[in-house]
Amino acid sequence: MAASHSDALVLFGVTGDLAHKMIFPALYAMVKRGELKVPIIGVALPKWSLARLHKRITDSIKRSDGIDNKRALQHLLSLFKYVSGDYKDPDTFTAIKKALGNARRPAYYLAIPPSLFETVIKGLGAANLAESARVIVEKPFGRDLASAKELNEVARSVFPEDSIFRIDHYLGKEAIMNILYFRFANSFLEPIWNRNYIASVQITLSEDFGVEDRGSFYESAGCLRDVIENHLFQLVALLAMEPPSDRDFGAVHREKANVFRAMRPLQRDDLVRGQYAGYRKEPGVAKNSDVETFCAMRLFIDSWRWAGVPWYLRSGKYLADTATEILVELKAPPQKLFADSAPRTGRTNYLRFRLSPSAAIAIAARVKLPGKDFVGEQQELYLLEDRPGEEAPYERLLGDAMIGDGALFTREDAVEAAWAVVDPVLKTHHRVLPYRRRGWGPKEADAIISSDGGWHNPEPIEA
Ligand code: BG6
Repeated sequence: MAASHSDALVLFGVTGDLAHKMIFPALYAMVKRGELKVPIIGVALPKWSLARLHKRITDSIKRSDGIDNKRALQHLLSLFKYVSGDYKDPDTFTAIKKALGNARRPAYYLAIPPSLFETVIKGLGAANLAESARVIVEKPFGRDLASAKELNEVARSVFPEDSIFRIDHYLGKEAIMNILYFRFANSFLEPIWNRNYIASVQITLSEDFGVEDRGSFYESAGCLRDVIENHLFQLVALLAMEPPSDRDFGAVHREKANVFRAMRPLQRDDLVRGQYAGYRKEPGVAKNSDVETFCAMRLFIDSWRWAGVPWYLRSGKYLADTATEILVELKAPPQKLFADSAPRTGRTNYLRFRLSPSAAIAIAARVKLPGKDFVGEQQELYLLEDRPGEEAPYERLLGDAMIGDGALFTREDAVEAAWAVVDPVLKTHHRVLPYRRRGWGPKEADAIISSDGGWHNPEPIEA
């Protein structure tokens, strides 16, 4: 881990959506906590005045959690400078250099379309702006294995690996960090955390809204690239990894990359792709689009621990509810001593990790009902419920990148190994199946999991 704090933040794409929705509120929160004091140089193509940028930042904060500290807002605005320019133009980088003044260890945040990542990274290199600097890159990191490799090569030709911070905002979520903690801070899980006791694992990331104003982005991405290959794969890695040898995060990265390496590359029948009714009428979407807004898959990890255990992943827009949940289902007891110990319907022994919108870890078991008969009921024991005051992912990740802590970022080898798993189905797949809005996707998605009790649909409200 590099020791020193970045002494300036350069925000490429400062006039864009990501900055407005996520980054300004995160910077505001960091200023309020006294964690952000360095100059911020916003860069984008439009010829905006600083006053116009200030208005945009203020509007963004109003729309997120509101302005509850005017002094902090003023302080944040006072940190900003603005450089307008084309990322292909060397003059833009000369202007950035000038704006950086005496800063020696800037952090460059690329909140820009992925097609521009290479241009900006090369521009930074050519202008000698990369020395002792850090670069923070938004997802998606590449759009297949070949482009991820190329992007890694370009990034590595300008920055050393420990100065490259690839963001997957899921890794900055409290409930997701807790998976790592919960697994390895307790000893009771380890003996059962394998193919001998676990029947299947399923993860659902469902959203009850559509692509909104991101139609053209979605056309170039689709659900598989947008959330499965990154967010859901990261969850699989945390659940499936071997214990890291120590708290050194290099060890965690290594074990996560090993999970991706052990994943069996997907084949087209492992996948059901869906598209919500009306998607083709969304702005920026092709009339005959075959892009998926829903994806369900079965995958296998061919390792000693997981051989034969199916992992089911599912995500989609315009589903019945917005929630992310993991269900780890345990095998039935070897002997059926009680008539109802393995009911025909419903699940009995499982662990449930609710990740959002609320957080929970629950263990489900059967317990006996009072009376002379050995008849039971299903109970969930809650080990964790939501706690207030959590840092938002972007806040945490930006802060970490600026102090050079790469623990919650994705590493080159893991990114490439994850792309290698999905690469075979990026082009070779069945056509999308239509599904109605506010359901659970196309019914064909049920078939891939029917032998494991079907999909668990997250409940709208926590019990
Ligand atoms: C983003 C995707 O990375 O993650 C979006 O681009 C998706 O399409 C979002 O909605 C989900 O993240 P969260 O934090 O809202 O669950």
